[in-house]
Amino acid sequence: MNSFYKTDAWQIIEEGFHPEMNRESESIFSIGNGYMGQRANFEETYSGDSLQGSYVAGVYYPDKTRVGWWKNGYPEYFAKVLNAPNWIGINISVDEKKIDLAKSKISSFLRILDMKQGYLERIFRVTVSENKTIEICSRRFVSMAEPDLGMIRYAVKSLDFDGVLDFTAYIDGDVKNQDTNYGEKFWEDVSKEIDENSGLLITRTLKTDFHVATGMSLEFIKDNIVIPVKIRNFNRDKYIASSVSIPVRKGEEVVLNKYVAVLSSLNVEKGNLAKETKSRLHQAKTKGYDKLYSEHTREWEKIWSTSDVIIEGDISAQQAIRFNIFQLNQTYTGKDERLNIGPKGFTGEKYGGSTYWDTEAFGLPFFLKTADPKVGKNLLVYRYKHLEKSIENAAKLGFKDGAALYPMVTMNGEECHNEWEITFEEIHRNGAIAFAIFNYIRHTGDNEYMADYGLEVLIGISRFWSQRATFSENLKKYVILGVTGPNEYENNVNNNWYTNSLAVWTLSYTLENIRILESENSAKMSDLNARINFNISNETTRWQDIIKNMHFPFDSSRNVFLQQDGFLDKELKPASSIPASERPINQNWSWDRILRSCFLKQADVLQGLYLFEDQFDTETLKRNFDFYEPMTVHESSLSPCIYSIIASRIGNIEKAYELYLRTARLDLDDYNNEVSDGLHITSMAGTWLAIVEGFGGMRISEGKVFLNPLIPVNWQSYSFHARFRGILFEVKVTKDLVTVNNVSDKTLPITLCGKEYQINGSEKVILNLKVDFFS
Ligand code: BGC
Repeated sequence: MNSFYKTDAWQIIEEGFHPEMNRESESIFSIGNGYMGQRANFEETYSGDSLQGSYVAGVYYPDKTRVGWWKNGYPEYFAKVLNAPNWIGINISVDEKKIDLAKSKISSFLRILDMKQGYLERIFRVTVSENKTIEICSRRFVSMAEPDLGMIRYAVKSLDFDGVLDFTAYIDGDVKNQDTNYGEKFWEDVSKEIDENSGLLITRTLKTDFHVATGMSLEFIKDNIVIPVKIRNFNRDKYIASSVSIPVRKGEEVVLNKYVAVLSSLNVEKGNLAKETKSRLHQAKTKGYDKLYSEHTREWEKIWSTSDVIIEGDISAQQAIRFNIFQLNQTYTGKDERLNIGPKGFTGEKYGGSTYWDTEAFGLPFFLKTADPKVGKNLLVYRYKHLEKSIENAAKLGFKDGAALYPMVTMNGEECHNEWEITFEEIHRNGAIAFAIFNYIRHTGDNEYMADYGLEVLIGISRFWSQRATFSENLKKYVILGVTGPNEYENNVNNNWYTNSLAVWTLSYTLENIRILESENSAKMSDLNARINFNISNETTRWQDIIKNMHFPFDSSRNVFLQQDGFLDKELKPASSIPASERPINQNWSWDRILRSCFLKQADVLQGLYLFEDQFDTETLKRNFDFYEPMTVHESSLSPCIYSIIASRIGNIEKAYELYLRTARLDLDDYNNEVSDGLHITSMAGTWLAIVEGFGGMRISEGKVFLNPLIPVNWQSYSFHARFRGILFEVKVTKDLVTVNNVSDKTLPITLCGKEYQINGSEKVILNLKVDFFS
């Protein structure tokens, strides 16, 4: 696969103007800061193909459901993070001739995403008419230091003429989502004001009534000096603009600094929004571009100092992992428990910016190992706060007595997905949410979380599994019928191995923690029982029976777990038998053909083996990997990372590396031909895991860290930081040596390639693989 973008360790670079790739590049070059973000749209007028997108985290709209045939139980709406007022707009005219990048003559176009410092830059030339060429250099960022601020430094230089440049800087709130169900617009004007110092537009979302204030303040500079200008202001419904005309001489450059503040009623009282936004703009302008920029880059420096992965000997892999880490940090900073990680972050509209099981299964393990434990806790508390709604969701589907079914897709705890096979059947998501509690506690050691929040969620989910499993007289086993596993290329199957495994695991884990709380703090357990009307002996007898007697489909001739009861009835063929012209199959085959085929969209049995790996020996992992991997088309971004981790675990480093590149460069190389819709943010967490848990072999178990590193053949070395229970440590792996450097002040308990160590704070252990390990 050839990358369209230039390979570089710290930058993504697009050379030349490629309108046919514009949507793809708009996704790739996206910027964000956890609070807001946007696609890499042009500042200038562009009448070509584009997906204009600016988003403010948590500002959503319930778009009325649209389905072919209504089914009872469907949610009324699909929640969408809204395309918010576009604040980047700057129109340019030269001697009254307006530039439209789709029509003007563009040369030497360069677009750069600098991941080290977190900015987006374009440098290019536009020939407006004969002997009238300008060079534009625009740099923009959304501040990591002050998340409600955005900034554009926009420089225009006359290359060959004396004339007049017109700048029109605007904020446009008359935007709509391209994926609206009924073509409606979701914003309404609240107020606008604009004078010679600043402009402010306040818009509100219909139904949800979020108010968003977007303000701008401009500054024009020539020869490093702010120049006085005469501003002409305009406004119309949901739109404000300021225009300025500036004479230039050949060779002269004019810089426009556009300071932007975006505040929303999620954080500021509606009545104070105007005042607060103006005051934020004033503070920003007083600080000035240079200071804002250096504060922003300092934040990135801090992030990179503990989250960078350095790969020596493979620049393409290096660029890719940084791209993944960069986009993840742009999407979620973990400061606000009301926010979550949309599968596409702020880079597109698909999946509506809502929360999926991706968060617990992929995002959480990344943030647990790279960020302060509060970040992971906020992700868990988000779900805790949705427990009541999950009980309501389950009740709508006929479950009772406090059974909780977490939604497949949600913004506020309500289910808002509406394809029956996913909404009603993809119930494995409930298991991911239960497993996340275990994962959080094993990483952080925060046992109190269980008593304060975790157990209540686990009991709700266990009640669901207990009611959802039924007893088959035929098999004399419990079964879970009519489900969709993670592999969405099969629907309404019976006994998905992964789902059944999670159900049994959740019941056991919940029972174990009930016993612990009963013995350690019986008063707290009694309080909980009373609060949720839980009768331990009455309810848990059935749980124990399900644990003992669950049915797990198995093929005894091949000795592999079966994805579901009927899997062997399918015609088993390798994915390599599909002609390249028919890939991806989801864009080329009819849906029924896909469903009847044996091809897997993503890890399913393997997803379960990943979670419960310590229950299986290497041979079992290998047999299942060898059976399923050839049939997997990886058309979900969440797939190759899991296969890569298991491939490393079974010692197949070549395969692990091949799958690593596929996950790491999935978007940069557009493997699944869909990057125009946005980036696959949640799978990016899987990429990081493919290095740390895959090549690095990092596991958390028995209250300590395990490392069993491997190294891809063409890498000279790789290194990463990880966290465990308040301890930050750095791992470097070369062909011969593994170095673990404890950079915190607490002792790190670690089993390194089978040897036990207690590494004191500020100390390191170096293991010579050839001498210490093989000798
Ligand atoms: C995958 C799901 C995932 C969703 C959002 C789908 O293509 O099959 O597992 O939750 O994308 O990332």
